[in-house]
Amino acid sequence: MYQIPSQPEFWDSASVITKDPTPIIEGQSEKFNRVKSVLEPFNISLEMMKDIGDRLTAEMVKGLDKATHAEAKVKMFPTYVQSLPDGTERGDFFALDLGGSNFRVLLVQLLEGEVKMESKTYAIAKEIMVGTGDQLFDYIADCLNEFKTEQGLGNKSLPLGFTFSFPCKQLSLKSGILVTWTKGFTAAGVEGKNVVDLLMEACKRRGVDIDVIALVNDTTGTLMSCAYTDHNAYVGLILGTGTNACYMEDVNKVGTWEGDGNARQTIVNMEWGAFGDDGVLDDIRTEYDRNVDETSLNRGKQQYEKMISGMYLGEISRQVMVKLVQSKLLFNGVSSKELDTPGKFETRFTTDIENDKSNNGTDVAKILTDLNLKPSLEDIELVRVICHSVAKRAARLAVAGLAAVTKRVQRDDRPEVTIGIDGTLYKKHPLFKQEMEEMMKLLVPGVKVNFMLSEDGSGKGAALIAAVACRLHNNKVQ
Ligand code: BGC
Repeated sequence: MYQIPSQPEFWDSASVITKDPTPIIEGQSEKFNRVKSVLEPFNISLEMMKDIGDRLTAEMVKGLDKATHAEAKVKMFPTYVQSLPDGTERGDFFALDLGGSNFRVLLVQLLEGEVKMESKTYAIAKEIMVGTGDQLFDYIADCLNEFKTEQGLGNKSLPLGFTFSFPCKQLSLKSGILVTWTKGFTAAGVEGKNVVDLLMEACKRRGVDIDVIALVNDTTGTLMSCAYTDHNAYVGLILGTGTNACYMEDVNKVGTWEGDGNARQTIVNMEWGAFGDDGVLDDIRTEYDRNVDETSLNRGKQQYEKMISGMYLGEISRQVMVKLVQSKLLFNGVSSKELDTPGKFETRFTTDIENDKSNNGTDVAKILTDLNLKPSLEDIELVRVICHSVAKRAARLAVAGLAAVTKRVQRDDRPEVTIGIDGTLYKKHPLFKQEMEEMMKLLVPGVKVNFMLSEDGSGKGAALIAAVACRLHNNKVQ
């Protein structure tokens, strides 16, 4: 058996997974070198991370400046959420959460010392995701109606936070225009429209009373849900089907602000998934990223998201595998119909593969044989390294951006910065937390950064935003 010499830059990938300093790669050095060169473009060094962070900072400035906002790709939308919760918010709220293949309706009760939630999840059929806006919003109204009935609330109208996790140019706290669909949605007639109007029209058609108080992005909800208990929370991050971040910004730095002239701060929804849409990341994007983009429903858009988020990581890994099979470096050069089918190698497989610490890769083998492949022990190890390299690049790209945002919110009177995080990718894939925490220390030395998991940012956070708005409104009225 040939043992690969230690190559920390690259092969640390394999040893991190197996905790075994001698990953099993049989064969001889020529094969090793060829695989290494295929995976080399996924290697993001510390220097590159710093550089990517600087590029994002420049894009942020462009998005915030009124003069350059129109051409900016990272839109930096003010959310008109001007205040973080102070813990005194109380009351009953509805929340709607649309952002992926599931839709949820929630009843959130903010009580003294506790938050109670009842929720129901509804699947969104593919036909609805890619159908018409009316179909989509009618379905949402029907689900809300059903939920209210099941909760014995009849047609009771409670203040509602609508978490709609797509790029929206907010016009106010409770209205916003969908700029472009992402994450596999294409429902016709919604882009360019005020989505709260569409929701209210659908509810009217279906006879459902509704009182929308806030339109919320999932990043904002996540930040709010963490800020409820942690007063150092200034940043929200989503690493799930898609990716995005938000943070607390001084209003005087938001050139596009159209709200209250006395406001001092606002949460900015960065929409960082679009970072790179003007080519600024082209030197980092690989042929696999270009293929993923070409075959996506939103070609040319969300380039940063397409290198990082859960919707794409499995597919990138699959593309690399196909390339290695074609070069006869994997599965003896024999592919399967499943491996050759776009989308068949799901991101959850990469999570399971990363989690499989067994010596002989039992779970990896099962995933591969289910895809009608015949993996050798060497193939299993190579597949681990491929998935690990793709995920590690994603984690490093994400933390590069996050470090830039952290630097922006860090101030002398803020000795600690808490980042509220949500999303299945971060929660389930073991590498993200580990890699990001480690890299953050190197990227932002001297700042205490806490990574805080949000508990249901999209639900609880939306209710909190509605609650804060009600509290501020009541204060004004009194
Ligand atoms: C959307 C963002 C959202 C992110 C995470 C992206 O595709 O554009 O609005 O926050 O996904 O769900």
